[in-house]
Amino acid sequence: MVKNKKAAKGPESAHGRPPRDSLVVKTEVVLPSDANNLDTVFGGRVMEWIDIAAAVSAGRHCRTTVVTASMDDLHFLAPIKKGMVVILQAQVNYAGRTSVEVGVEVLSENLLTGERTRCCHAFLTFVALDAKGKPTAAPALLPETAEERRRFREAEERRQFRLERRDRFR
Ligand SMILES: CC(C)(COP(=O)(O)OP(=O)(O)OC[C@H]1O[C@@H](n2cnc3c(N)ncnc32)[C@H](O)[C@@H]1OP(=O)(O)O)[C@@H](O)C(=O)NCCC(=O)NCCS
Repeated sequence: MVKNKKAAKGPESAHGRPPRDSLVVKTEVVLPSDANNLDTVFGGRVMEWIDIAAAVSAGRHCRTTVVTASMDDLHFLAPIKKGMVVILQAQVNYAGRTSVEVGVEVLSENLLTGERTRCCHAFLTFVALDAKGKPTAAPALLPETAEERRRFREAEERRQFRLERRDRFR
């Protein structure tokens, strides 16, 4: 356990953090209580797992309390059967002033064959909150690879679109 607060924030936190600092890999097994009458997982259960993995990722980046501001469109590309393993990989793609976008990839794994299938992808926005529950500054994101720079640019474009859609519902 890291007791020193400076060490817990990490050496890069003064200027920002690389995406790798926020990587979360969460593994679940589809239990009977997670399944519908087709013996595949409930979409709502997958959404819950996505929200948790993404919240931990945002928290690792911000090192503050974070709150879910939005979840973009979700498309369930392939069913996940009871007994299968579900792997959720989450990482911060973009950091604004007080908000971050987290990308989550959901894969299923057949433990008997090792076959993995891409089942779902989601983008969520979290807002860093201070002790009074008000939005507070998030560390900058420092992409290191070409792939991370591409994700950053694409997230910036999505952000504009997302805020325009939010304003239509206000
Ligand atoms: C999310 C919330 C904190 C934003 O508060 P706000 O007063 O609108 O704050 P601001 O307008 O200053 O926006 C703060 C940041 O959030 C972003 N944001 C706000 N609403 C957003 C939305 N719907 N989608 C994406 N980003 C959003 C803004 O772009 C801004 O980002 P930036 O600082 O990086 O530019 C507030 O709307 C809230 O508490 N919502 C309820 C959250 C909740 O209960 N979640 C579910 C349970 S966890």
